[in-house]
Amino acid sequence: MYYKSEFYSPTGSHKVNTALAQAFYAREQGLERLTTETGAGQWGTALAYGCSLMGLKCTVYWVRAVYRWKHERRNLMQMYGAEVFASPSDRTESGKALYSKNPEHPGSLAIAISEGLEAARGDKKVAYGLGSVLNHVLTQQTIIGLETQKQFEMMGDYPDLVISCLGGGSNFGGFAIPFMGDVLTKGKKIKFIAAQTQASPNLQGEYRYDHADHAEITPQLMMYTLGHKTDFPPVKGDGLRYHGCSPILSLLRNKGYIDTVAYPVDEKHVFERARQFLRVEGFLPAPESAYSVACAIDEALKCKASGEEKVIAFNISGHGFLDMVGYSAVLGMSLD
Ligand SMILES: Cc1ncc(COP(=O)(O)O)c(C=O)c1O
Repeated sequence: MYYKSEFYSPTGSHKVNTALAQAFYAREQGLERLTTETGAGQWGTALAYGCSLMGLKCTVYWVRAVYRWKHERRNLMQMYGAEVFASPSDRTESGKALYSKNPEHPGSLAIAISEGLEAARGDKKVAYGLGSVLNHVLTQQTIIGLETQKQFEMMGDYPDLVISCLGGGSNFGGFAIPFMGDVLTKGKKIKFIAAQTQASPNLQGEYRYDHADHAEITPQLMMYTLGHKTDFPPVKGDGLRYHGCSPILSLLRNKGYIDTVAYPVDEKHVFERARQFLRVEGFLPAPESAYSVACAIDEALKCKASGEEKVIAFNISGHGFLDMVGYSAVLGMSLD
């Protein structure tokens, strides 16, 4: 088993791979501010850092269900200089429509995207930067898989199984797409598995056109979707709770190249696997990355049982050292 560590990046996750590029091009374009959504908070943190490096202001709409419990990460974003609002908020029309009915609305990535887009509308110095789903984001994230390919080359090994977690698709796509190139053009045989939550197993949805956001501000994308207005139960790995999967990965899924597994909403099995990893490797995966770890260990145990030898590669998209509240809740530890 081999794992790629995106948790060594500044801010602690893969999200910085595209945040720096997006902030750089925004500065080149003469913009003054970027607005965005965030679910787990990793993307908001990464963009806050990118903006701070490029001398831009940053506004983050953060899914309320997570904003409520990740106080330290909220402060971290603020330390980078970002302003951070729980979403749905009363600052945008799309947010207000939901917030006025329920000020404790848990929010969703689709709603936070609508708010970020609305906040950028009408001001030529402000633009919206999305943390996943879109083709340019996945392309920038392919640095993950490209590095992994080089590392395999150095070791003289090659994977039979490529595994990662999938929300909108940026980390799975970034890791898997370079290997997919080997399958499509070099005749390599690899099984790809996307680890998801049963809260929103978007790869098991319908393959059709749908909006990327709740208020229908974005154009429609051809993707696997559970519906942009659907409510999903919040989980601790909430960065995986999104209705649609990136168009590139959706097409590959539709052509039969990507398998998927969805783990129960109680997250007990997934977080137990993260604890198992922590005890051996010393790093705590982000709650989202724990799905990748769980899937990789589950597949390894299947090999152990069957006696079949496989080289397994999985990606750990971020660390979970700021996410102890979530781990404690699921694993039943005291916070006193
Ligand atoms: C650490 C981490 N991994 C994975 C994801 C899932 O998103 P994506 O599918 O875009 O990689 C998130 C999203 O918030 C995340 O924070």
